[in-house]
Amino acid sequence: MKEKESVKESAKVSGAIGRIRDDFPMLAHYTHFNCGGMAPLSTSVGAELLRAPTAIIEQGPARLLARDDDFIGIEKARAKLATFIGADPDEIAFTTQFSTAVNIVVEGLAWQPGDEVIVTDQEHPALLIPLMNVVRRHGLKVSRIPVSHNADEMLTHFQALLTDRTKLVAVSHVTTDSGTRLPAEEMTRLAHAVGSYVFFDGAHSAGQFPLDLHALGCDFYAMVGYKWLFGPYPSAALYLRRELLDQIEVTWCGSNVTQSGSVTMGVEDLNWIPGARRFEYGGRTYSYDTAMVAGLSYVDRLGVEAVEAHSRHLTAYFHDALQRVPGARIHSPLNLRDATGIATVSLDKMDGVALSAALRERWQMIQRPALRGTTVRISLAAFIEESDVDLLVDSLRTLATE
Ligand SMILES: Cc1ncc(COP(=O)(O)O)c(C=O)c1O
Repeated sequence: MKEKESVKESAKVSGAIGRIRDDFPMLAHYTHFNCGGMAPLSTSVGAELLRAPTAIIEQGPARLLARDDDFIGIEKARAKLATFIGADPDEIAFTTQFSTAVNIVVEGLAWQPGDEVIVTDQEHPALLIPLMNVVRRHGLKVSRIPVSHNADEMLTHFQALLTDRTKLVAVSHVTTDSGTRLPAEEMTRLAHAVGSYVFFDGAHSAGQFPLDLHALGCDFYAMVGYKWLFGPYPSAALYLRRELLDQIEVTWCGSNVTQSGSVTMGVEDLNWIPGARRFEYGGRTYSYDTAMVAGLSYVDRLGVEAVEAHSRHLTAYFHDALQRVPGARIHSPLNLRDATGIATVSLDKMDGVALSAALRERWQMIQRPALRGTTVRISLAAFIEESDVDLLVDSLRTLATE
């Protein structure tokens, strides 16, 4: 029954796909298999990105200076993002960079020497660098779970690493290189049972499948806009569970985040505004934030379930067609239930760096090497068609046999 439903959903997106392609002008020139790196910019997202600056060129900055939300649109955008991820608006901070979202959390926790953190062996530097910076300064212990396509195996490894000193589990919801979807609900439950906080890197999950963060129960969830949400670069946001807001020390701050503040202000005036907006100090990249939500709204109009079904359909199609390519191996989940729009592939004949270069130079296919240069990561996003996959498989076959 489930299988039938997803085929139907997929047909819905496939039916609209011609229109989708036309919405992204760059797709006229390239086959873009790197949505997991950066999404192509659609005409409507580009228009939202330029809306406020264009008005400011023509009419001046008065409405921006007045922080006129009818003009800026940031609170409407925050509410839309909150609904999309199953959270409340005051649990969301727009952070521009993913790394800033990580810094807010890891710099704000009250670490003790000997506290432990758990990551996987496939985390992105944007998470690891801020994290290692607190590990270095506070004398923390780091453990790494090997990513496996078998959720039970991962959970067994994970459980063995959890101790009563575990303070933070900081892992991808979907890993960047192999597109493996981690058993997030079970990990959250197990981590909370030992009193640990749980932070998910949602760079490759937001926009790929429905999210309900309140139901998931995690503590922190960081997203980027410029991948599967079809937003601009840079753009990012952080979800902080409401109950934890006051446990995160505000470490960097500035104008507009206290309830009072004047030229004579003192320490007693450091009364943060309610909610996660307290992390949005100083001048903001509002156009990027609202354009991120324009991208998300585009995905929402397609239907995120339909987008997920489309990726699954293309993954199955790709796996099937790869059987015609001698020496091709798949390194992302084979089981479609666990698959996302990331399909990672290698050829026995050449390493991933050479393969990536050949696909780009000879067939204008945008993708990137993955798993330390041994493979190529293919992103099968909503604007990809079966004919794009056919071209890719033909190219791989040519490379494998010439
Ligand atoms: C898993 C993951 N996390 C985070 C990021 C992005 O971080 P930032 O925007 O701070 O460079 C990426 C981008 O490629 C990513 O793949």
